[in-house]
Amino acid sequence: MGKLTELLTREYPKPVTLEDGTPVILRPLLKGDEEALVKYFQTLPPEDRLCLKEDVTDPKVIENWIYELNYDDVLPLIALHNGQIVGDATLHFSPIGWTRHLGDLRLTTSTQYRVRGLGTILVQNLIDIAAHLDLEQLSVEIPPVLDKAFYLFEKLGFKEVAQLKGFVRDLEGTESDLVLMVMNLHEKKTKAGKKRAPAA
Ligand SMILES: CC(C)(COP(=O)(O)OP(=O)(O)OC[C@H]1O[C@@H](n2cnc3c(N)ncnc32)[C@H](O)[C@@H]1OP(=O)(O)O)[C@@H](O)C(=O)NCCC(=O)NCCS
Repeated sequence: MGKLTELLTREYPKPVTLEDGTPVILRPLLKGDEEALVKYFQTLPPEDRLCLKEDVTDPKVIENWIYELNYDDVLPLIALHNGQIVGDATLHFSPIGWTRHLGDLRLTTSTQYRVRGLGTILVQNLIDIAAHLDLEQLSVEIPPVLDKAFYLFEKLGFKEVAQLKGFVRDLEGTESDLVLMVMNLHEKKTKAGKKRAPAA
């Protein structure tokens, strides 16, 4: 069994509790989740889908994701409450070439479940998975309009490393900047594992 499969089998489904006491289950997306995922994305406001790169309101896009589901390429971690998807965070691997030490993240949570810690929990789970797989860096691309996401990732240790002026277009076709945030997982490990020098 591969390292990732072993970890996913051991850790998920994982029950977690949001800050207001709401019980939520985290687990990797399964083939049977297609309908629930289509429904989930259709409830998200258009601006909240800006960072997702594909038109997730198109059922064909989701059908394709499900068809190509392979956790070694993209690991989608979903949050469920009462059987409905209320959050989705994805870890994108690029195992070949000069980005093989990197993982890229995307995140959304349902508007009705926000500011209760769900986004933080989902990203922290993906950080832990990436660290377990010995990835060195995680990145996330955020249009400045998604400022809440910026604070969330900053709080978790991501740093802004670049701002690409006019790099993307929003849904109306207007140019927008893109902020690239990066977390160095090895740095984090080293800091956490650093022993204090003995007092003289
Ligand atoms: C960004 C997003 C995922 C946050 O989800 P969430 O479930 O509300 O996340 P949390 O409850 O864990 O919030 C974590 C932090 O985000 C920031 N934040 C979230 N909502 C906020 C709000 N309404 N006002 C101010 N800060 C907010 C805060 O720093 C918060 O930490 P704190 O409560 O300790 O201060 C959600 O707003 C979303 O889906 N937005 C649209 C998509 C997006 O921006 N994706 C990220 C780029 S891929």
